[in-house]
Amino acid sequence: MIFSPRWSVLPSRVFLASLLFTCGAALAADGAPRTTPATTTAVAQPAQRPGHSAVASANFLATDAGLEILAKGGNAFDAAVAVAATLSVVEPESSGIGGGFMAVLHRAKDGHNVFIDARETAPAAVDPKDYLNPDGTPNRDSALKGPLSAGIPGEPAGLVLIAERYGKLSLAQSLAPAIRLARDGFKPDPRLREAIAGQQKDLLRWAASAAKFLPDGKPPVEGKLWRDPDQAKTLEAIAAHGNDGFYRGPTAKKLVDAVRAAGGNWTLADLESYQAKERQPISVDYRGYRIITAPPPSSGGVAIAEILNILSGFELEKLDQAHRVHLIVEAMRRAFRDHNDYLGDPDFVKMPLDMLLSPFYADGLRQSILPGKATPSSMLPHRTARDPGMHTTHFSIIDKDGNMAAVTSTVNYILGSTFVAEGTGVLLNDEMDDFALVPGKPNVYGLLGSAANAPEGGKRMLSSMSPSLVIGADRSAVIGSPGGSTIITQVLEGILHFIDGESAQQIVAHKRFHHQFLPDVVDVEPGMFDKATSADLTAMGYTLNDRKPWGFMNVVTWDHRTNKLDAASDPRRPSGSGRVQ
Ligand code: DON
Repeated sequence: MIFSPRWSVLPSRVFLASLLFTCGAALAADGAPRTTPATTTAVAQPAQRPGHSAVASANFLATDAGLEILAKGGNAFDAAVAVAATLSVVEPESSGIGGGFMAVLHRAKDGHNVFIDARETAPAAVDPKDYLNPDGTPNRDSALKGPLSAGIPGEPAGLVLIAERYGKLSLAQSLAPAIRLARDGFKPDPRLREAIAGQQKDLLRWAASAAKFLPDGKPPVEGKLWRDPDQAKTLEAIAAHGNDGFYRGPTAKKLVDAVRAAGGNWTLADLESYQAKERQPISVDYRGYRIITAPPPSSGGVAIAEILNILSGFELEKLDQAHRVHLIVEAMRRAFRDHNDYLGDPDFVKMPLDMLLSPFYADGLRQSILPGKATPSSMLPHRTARDPGMHTTHFSIIDKDGNMAAVTSTVNYILGSTFVAEGTGVLLNDEMDDFALVPGKPNVYGLLGSAANAPEGGKRMLSSMSPSLVIGADRSAVIGSPGGSTIITQVLEGILHFIDGESAQQIVAHKRFHHQFLPDVVDVEPGMFDKATSADLTAMGYTLNDRKPWGFMNVVTWDHRTNKLDAASDPRRPSGSGRVQ
């Protein structure tokens, strides 16, 4: 254990700086990629083992698949492969083998923390003109639907990497539950049935999409088994041949043929050259806990670290709710101002990460916060603005040995591109929209990116996915959520609630608020603030915007004092399941 005791006074700059630099918080100023193999960081880790396991995911069949693999002697990483592959079958509206994921893993035996980057890449022939109408306006259809919207999938390679480098069981064993469900069928939950009904018009544009999702010409009906035999075969090919089962050979040929026949530009070389990567996660220490989270090409970890560094100079616990929210919103405002201006794929762009993650930079930002008063975003130079979506999925696992997996996986928008490649059962993502495709024009989340996130062949598009671990001397947590740009603020608030001592159930159920620089409003989940707090915040200059509940947070916690695990799934979505065994 190398934990410093929890402190309640303001940490000194020197102390924070030493924590940051000794735990590898700052990545190189030149944005040099952290590729395979990431170094083993000497991080704090609990001395004991829980002796039992817990999984929380967005679907009970996926949670059960993870527990099945753990019961067969698999570790948290085998279970992560099983859960992700099962979600590809039972929750295809959110993630799948035609998409990508980001994961933070903690290996208990040596304290190794690693970020798995299975993010999609742009095909080599990407052409920004494909995302413009003849009159020069953005073509939202090609950005969001059909094969031009799809990046080269990363999920299969990411699962192979995790199984080979971190698992105990074979890839085939871990994929077995997903294959069984795809082959034998399962009963789709209401959310999937609604997603298919909502996207019916687009699914009907492509024969293979209609065949998969509208088997009798209409969405699957309640209580009836639904089968996905083509996806079962593709998963079997991956189980038998690893990467070659997807990125080479017959599956690759079917994917490329289908994409090109429908107007896309993938080549076999795009698939063959795809590589999932290990990178060094971002680590930041806050109030005695170490947060281990997603580095670029996610913007999430940088933003979370910047916000926590700003907040570490305040004693939030001594403030009333309005003043506490004021400081958190101002920290969010400054971090979101930065994150899309600078960040992109670390293999392509240089990023001032030393600056963004530095406690001295945070000191400066903290000084710029006006006491008891909102800083209008217009007073700060800016570029960003976007809305959350509700697709993408996150799951959390801790196994009996203390291994931890935080995995956020996505096909981007609901049912991704709605394009299924004939003969594969693979629903392709529409992740190309996460690039800044048309300069100065927003994406589906209202995002205006910078040149750092311009599309280029082989480049990864920026993400907000923020799978995170929080490791403390008394308790640890695995945490994450879908939600577009609100992923970052949800995870941040989840971390703060955990550090305040909340249980897994309290964290996932907690009301949430969100601010992202532009639009210059604070989104508030109804019921979050009482009248007096709303009035105080309005008087400070905030525009509060009621918005319906968002998020689908899945959290596992481990209390080191009692050695008890707890798993909780967001009560806003009844299909979720958190279980301990
Ligand atoms: O990677 C990203 O940031 C997005 N593709 C995630 C999309 C998302 O979370 C959708 N809604 N929940």
